[in-house]
Amino acid sequence: MTDVGGVQGQAFADISGKTRILGIFGDPVAHSLSPLMQNAALRAAGIDAVYVPFHVRPEQLPGAVAALRALGIWGVNVTVPHKEAVMALLDEIDGPARLIGAVNTLVNRDGRLCGYNTDGEGLLESLRGDLGFTPAGRRIVLLGAGGACRAAVAALAARGAAWIGLANRSLPRAQALVNHFASHFPGTAFAILPLSPRGAGDELAQALAGADLLVNTTSLGLRGEEIPLPWPALAPGAVVCDMVYRRGGTPLCRSARERGHLVTDGLGMLAGQGERAFSLWTGQPPPFGVMKSRLLAELNDK
Ligand SMILES: NC(=O)c1ccc[n+]([C@@H]2O[C@H](COP(=O)([O-])OP(=O)(O)OC[C@H]3O[C@@H](n4cnc5c(N)ncnc54)[C@H](OP(=O)(O)O)[C@@H]3O)[C@@H](O)[C@H]2O)c1
Repeated sequence: MTDVGGVQGQAFADISGKTRILGIFGDPVAHSLSPLMQNAALRAAGIDAVYVPFHVRPEQLPGAVAALRALGIWGVNVTVPHKEAVMALLDEIDGPARLIGAVNTLVNRDGRLCGYNTDGEGLLESLRGDLGFTPAGRRIVLLGAGGACRAAVAALAARGAAWIGLANRSLPRAQALVNHFASHFPGTAFAILPLSPRGAGDELAQALAGADLLVNTTSLGLRGEEIPLPWPALAPGAVVCDMVYRRGGTPLCRSARERGHLVTDGLGMLAGQGERAFSLWTGQPPPFGVMKSRLLAELNDK
C-alpha cells in the first residue's frame, strides 16, 4: 500500500470490491486522531478495511445507526456527544457498557448491532504499560465524575481497587456516581471529595497523601488549564495519569513530573481503547505498539 498526498492510510488504489468500512461517529469529529491510528494498524495488520470519520449531528444519529445496517458497515467508534444516546438504538449492549451507561464501540454482526465500552480497558492498558500499575488492593484518587470517570471507576473497581476517592467540582454528581457503583463493587470503598476552583481542601490533601494513583478524568487541561491541587501532599511514590492529551503536554503532567512522579497522558488510553475496538471488529489482536507510535508521531511532528 502507498501513501497518497502525504496522508497515511489505505491508498484509494487499494480499495477493492471487498474492502470493509470502519469509522467514527462524532460531533465534532474533524479533530479525531482515531482515523490515523486505526488506519495505521489496519495497514500494518494487512487487513482490507478503511476507517473514516463521520460527522453525525445529534438529530442524525438514528439515521446514521440505521445506515450501519443498510450499508453493511463493519463497525464504528462513537464519541461525544453520542456515547449515551446511541444505546437506545442497538440490539445488544455488553455488560460493562451497560454498567457504565455509555458505549464507544459498535460492532455490526450480520445486521445485529452490539455496543461495547472500551475506555476502561484502554485506561487499564495504559496504567499497566506506561506506569507499571495494577489496581488490585490500591488506593486511587480520581479527579472528575463525568462519563470518562464512570468508565474508569468500573474498570478499576472490577480489578479490585481497595479505595477510590472521587474529587469533583459538583459534589452531587460525584455522589450519584458512588451511589450507582457502590452496590456493584462491595470490595471497593468509595469517598467523595470537593475539588474547588479556589484551591483544594484538607480532605483532598489527606486522600492524596495515601494515594497510589492519581487520575485526571476532568476536561481541565485540554486548553492548558491548571488544576488546583495540593501537590506537596501527594504520596511520593504515587503515579499519575492525565486522560487529557495535547501537543506540548498538559499542565498536570508537567507539575507531576517536576515533583518526580511517574506520569502518563491520555495518548496511551486512546491507543488502548482503540486496540480493544480493533480486536472486537477484526477478531484478531492489534499489531503491537502501532497505534501509540502513530499518535506520538502526529502530536510530536507538528
Ligand atoms: N484519553 C482518552 O482515551 C479519553 C477517553 C475518554 C475521555 N477522555 C477525556 O476525558 C475528559 C472528560 O471526558 P468526559 O466524557 O468525562 O466529560 P464529561 O462527562 O463532560 O465530564 C467532565 C468532567 O470535567 C469536570 N469539569 C469540566 N470543567 C471543569 C472546570 N472548569 N472546573 C472543574 N471541573 C470541571 C466536570 O465537573 P462537573 O461534574 O462539576 O461539571 C466533570 O467531572 C475529556 O477531556 C476527554 O477528552 C479521554
